[in-house]
Amino acid sequence: MPDALTQNNRPAPEVRIDEFFSGPAARADRWRSLLGVAERWADGHDNRANFETMLAAMAATEGYHAYPGLGLMKNLQEFASEDDAHAAHSMVQRINAALATKSYRRHAGDWEMGEEADSASVEDLAATAGDAAGRPYFETLIVTGIAAERWPELSAMWRRLRRNLDAFVYEPVFVGSFEDAFCAAILNPDLAAVVIHEGFSLRSRHDAPVLRAVLATADGDVRTAASPLGLATVLNRVRPELDLYLVCNQNVEELAGDARANVARRVFYSAEELLELHLAILEGVQSRFDTPFFDNLKKYAQRPIGTFHALPIARGKSIFKSAWIRDMGEFYGPTLFLAESSATTGGLDSLLEPTGNIKRAQDMAARAFGADRVFFVTNGTSTSNKMAVQALLSPGDIVIVDRNCHKSHHYGMVLAGAQPLYVEAFPLTKYSMYGAVPLRTIKQALLNLKADGRLDRVKMIDLTNCTFDGHIYNTRRVMEECLAIKPDLIFLWDEAWFGFARFSPFLRPRTAMGAANDIEEWLRDPGSIATYEKHRAELGKSPSDETLLETRLIPDPRLVRLRVYQTNSTHKSMSALRQGSMLLVKDVEFHTVEAQFKEAVFTHASTSPNQQLIASLDVARRQMELEGYGLVENAIEVALAIRQQVARHPLISRYFSVLPADAMIPGEFRTSGFTDFLEPGMNWAKALESLRNDEFCLDPTRMTLVCGSAGFDGTQFKNMLAGKYNIQVNKTSRNSVLLQSNINNTRSDVAHLVRVLVEIASEIDQELARGSGGMRKAFESRVTSLMTDVPDLPNFSRFHDTFRFDAGDRTNEGHIREAFYSAYNASGCEYIRLSDPEIDRRLRSGPELVSANFVIPYPPGFPIMVPGQVITPETIQFMRKLDVKEIHGYDAAEGLKLVRPEVLAEPLTKATGDRAASRKAVKSGKAETVVKPAAE
Ligand SMILES: Cc1ncc(COP(=O)(O)O)c(C=O)c1O
Repeated sequence: MPDALTQNNRPAPEVRIDEFFSGPAARADRWRSLLGVAERWADGHDNRANFETMLAAMAATEGYHAYPGLGLMKNLQEFASEDDAHAAHSMVQRINAALATKSYRRHAGDWEMGEEADSASVEDLAATAGDAAGRPYFETLIVTGIAAERWPELSAMWRRLRRNLDAFVYEPVFVGSFEDAFCAAILNPDLAAVVIHEGFSLRSRHDAPVLRAVLATADGDVRTAASPLGLATVLNRVRPELDLYLVCNQNVEELAGDARANVARRVFYSAEELLELHLAILEGVQSRFDTPFFDNLKKYAQRPIGTFHALPIARGKSIFKSAWIRDMGEFYGPTLFLAESSATTGGLDSLLEPTGNIKRAQDMAARAFGADRVFFVTNGTSTSNKMAVQALLSPGDIVIVDRNCHKSHHYGMVLAGAQPLYVEAFPLTKYSMYGAVPLRTIKQALLNLKADGRLDRVKMIDLTNCTFDGHIYNTRRVMEECLAIKPDLIFLWDEAWFGFARFSPFLRPRTAMGAANDIEEWLRDPGSIATYEKHRAELGKSPSDETLLETRLIPDPRLVRLRVYQTNSTHKSMSALRQGSMLLVKDVEFHTVEAQFKEAVFTHASTSPNQQLIASLDVARRQMELEGYGLVENAIEVALAIRQQVARHPLISRYFSVLPADAMIPGEFRTSGFTDFLEPGMNWAKALESLRNDEFCLDPTRMTLVCGSAGFDGTQFKNMLAGKYNIQVNKTSRNSVLLQSNINNTRSDVAHLVRVLVEIASEIDQELARGSGGMRKAFESRVTSLMTDVPDLPNFSRFHDTFRFDAGDRTNEGHIREAFYSAYNASGCEYIRLSDPEIDRRLRSGPELVSANFVIPYPPGFPIMVPGQVITPETIQFMRKLDVKEIHGYDAAEGLKLVRPEVLAEPLTKATGDRAASRKAVKSGKAETVVKPAAE
């Protein structure tokens, strides 16, 4: 069989049904390649066989999509067998245009064959496909045992169910096997519902090695899964947002009574109730489409309302009648002002105590994100974090927390009076960034607390998932192993950047809620007790700490109290307005902290929350439930395209690189051996194994682009991209910038970025070629300095003893709140400039330098000093080498703000008041010996 050729006369890539990581863009490329072949065939430069081969290769995956569908694909085959190159070319052209513009969703003519398309009346066509009224369009997968020859007839039957009253329009897509249903669910982002009949087969007729690897890593036996219930369970795992309908011919009551049938929205007896099924499908989509708060806000904006409350901007009269600020009205349009109100009446509900449509919107968000409940937060995840910390912790509670976490956590501890026990992430010194905290470090902290007899004091583990730079925890493993040491721990996962991950089947198990749901399922499984008992027996009676550290621990399911919280900046990865954030709860003990959460809301939420922000949270949820899957798939595809272009372009790759997984994650945390998304001959089974088992893996959408090798430091490069090329990036390090793809990106964005990188790289190239030897030397030494002369990252040293009056011997927690308030005592603080030799003298011979406040340089953005922290030579060295301008908490002209040694020498009670006094009184024996004057 001849190789199919692409436009460039290269063999067409093989099309496999299980190309799970190359979705819509790869499909679009294939259609464009087919167009190229058809064009050349029509011009006499290519032959029919190539066209036929390519078409046949595409047929397998095209079967998973409604458009162009069986009819048009058959038409194309017929044109080929009739040797009608022009007809084939014209139809491929039409299909390409319809796919690119998605016009087939509205335009019935796109679905018609050849000349019929031009001659059919609009009315004729509306009855067959597409929707001229522009109602939202989706596709419904029908899994059936009926022979494929009858699918066109069934398709027509489904279409005849359509009514003008329907709020949405959908097209059926037919498959006949478990494997094809699985692939269709993965490859077709337009699916919103699945109807599963009995009688389908197990295997696809197409080859699918990756699919088989995916299924092999999924729990359970595929053969037993290939029943309607089994398929429903698998599909629910892959795409929980899909509505599933089971249709069976016998024993419907038995099926409906099976606990596993809970994943289905409804169970039907036979297909006799086709209209009911049709209505159920529409109702299912409607229940995701509803946005209670936004819907009501739209109604509210339509009403003629006189406002006598304090928000003059509401209704916009003060804007539109103004001679001076009318341009604001013109810029934003009247709707914004009509939708503004400070009322909580008129159905607008109150964010502070929601009982109406905000509550309903939050409940729907909980469903979408796999939580028990959700709080909408309108002041960013900075506030969500502070709310969670305040609500869950009391003064004196210990929290094991990543020192590099966002400052809202640190400030939250200050507010709550909790004691942070800082744990360190692994460093990536070469790129001036930290990774994530190894599980061993966290377990060690717990075991140390246990050894000190203070395990009861630790309440929470607080980690960032994924980190700014894309390190994703094995959330399930972290929680299970920690719960094995203390079964009632609370987990706070800051997923500020990772909210979107819920909508990728590959990333979801690594999210807080994904893992919490998996753990919950395991806890419910009666077999979990036996698994635990076996594990316990293997561990022996009193396992050593080393054994506990080395072993994958399993918690006792009878003791575990699952308490998981997640915060996410909905505005960072979904379509919410800036500051829109959510706090997700999955906590069996929530009733014990509900009142505290109310207090946290009252403490932190504005009494004038922004209506548009709340509405955008509601709408972001709707979008993710209905099209999030495809959007996230697109974001991943965009990222893979960027990674590929940077690595493979001869000019770009000379000066730039995107760090692969093996540069971002040390080998000891990547036991799967996974190295990169672009590894030649990439073994996807290994990628999936990495996602499933590795301690850390890398979010493909977060790309560390090394620019130091092109002679730019991160800030310089960031400014150049923004100033000269209109490309905005967020984070930088000494020698890199962080590129992120999100649900908003398109292939045009990739093209623009690639073009810019080519331009910059060629400019460097030309300059170096034209320049003198001295100039080339200067370039090399700049690159060397940026890439190798990097300061060591300073770990957290320790809190000064004054702030550790009730601390354990083996752990580093301290009273950050008391330390923080030391800075309020102006006469108790002093400033020393970084360049002052006094700093070096004090480092050598004391008294110790103790920071009075947080010092947070941007980049890297983590606090290199927290209040009460003893400053070490490493910290000073890092500060002195730091060449960034923005350092929060530090003014170069004034110097470092330090707590005076005399103040530190005083008993803490005098410096900070009664609360410490009472604690000291309780622990007087210890306090007396620990609080000592700093050495003079
Ligand atoms: C890990 C992390 N958590 C929380 C936040 C704060 O989120 P927001 O900007 O929504 O307040 C950020 C902000 O960059 C962050 O990086």
